[in-house]
Amino acid sequence: MAESPYLLDNRKAEAGDRFEALAAVYDPMTVAHFDRLGVGPGWRCLEVGAGGGSIVRHLAERVGPTGRVLATDIEPRFLDPLAGLGNVDVARHDVVVDPLPEAAFDLVHARLVLVHVPERLTAIHRLVQALRPGGWLLIEDGDGIMTGQSCLDPRTDEEHLANRIRSGLIDLMAERGVDFGFARSLFRILEGESLVDVAGDGYVAFSDAVRVLERANILQLRETYVAAGFATDPEIDRFLAWLDQPRPSLAAPVVLSAWGRRPSS
Ligand SMILES: C[S@@+](CC[C@H](N)C(=O)[O-])C[C@H]1O[C@@H](n2cnc3c(N)ncnc32)[C@H](O)[C@@H]1O
Repeated sequence: MAESPYLLDNRKAEAGDRFEALAAVYDPMTVAHFDRLGVGPGWRCLEVGAGGGSIVRHLAERVGPTGRVLATDIEPRFLDPLAGLGNVDVARHDVVVDPLPEAAFDLVHARLVLVHVPERLTAIHRLVQALRPGGWLLIEDGDGIMTGQSCLDPRTDEEHLANRIRSGLIDLMAERGVDFGFARSLFRILEGESLVDVAGDGYVAFSDAVRVLERANILQLRETYVAAGFATDPEIDRFLAWLDQPRPSLAAPVVLSAWGRRPSS
């Protein structure tokens, strides 16, 4: 398999913390979307780039013994234990190139994955082919344009520094191929794929769990970040010390979601 350009490699020590924080911040949003789409017993689901697996666990319970969940990731080390759940299959799988069953799933879901994948349009086309007639595609991704600040009401030097570090992270990721404008084009893309009943919404969460996310991201990318001149080592140390205190007003990266259904015939 060719080396993926994904920056936040799951093999690094910070990945576990990142996945716990992502689950705390975004699982309520995703679960509300599943409620809305009517995901229920017997559904066959594909969870793409499943990461830490919290959504796989949720889906496995939700679809029950008559349903099935295929969880994929280019680095599935956190997913492997979930294969023991009975209705879950786990695959090391690159959404761009590895084979997928066609017309097989009632739900295909990817959260915070495609923004990192340069060939995201190819990937979406493949995910649409994997849907059964009537099946739903749900894509949820970060919007960098609305995500540039973690402190929406900055007053202190430390809060301004936190914002500078957040916007530097966005810039660094954008330089490395992450397309933070992608999520706002989802309606157009899903309609272009001839999906029907296309709809969507946006989500901004304030949560102390964002501290864990910010810490994991900056620790994992620290060297590259400093080398690229986004902040100095002492500034990052100051930021990390600031993250030691509870910060329930920290804003998580804004996520835009869109969904659509493959026509029934
Ligand atoms: C930011 S994490 C999000 C994880 C999870 N979906 C969530 O929302 O908590 C991105 C995940 O996508 C996976 N990933 C990146 N590129 C991928 C690709 N080309 N195919 C499949 N998974 C990929 C990464 O390994 C990582 O687990």
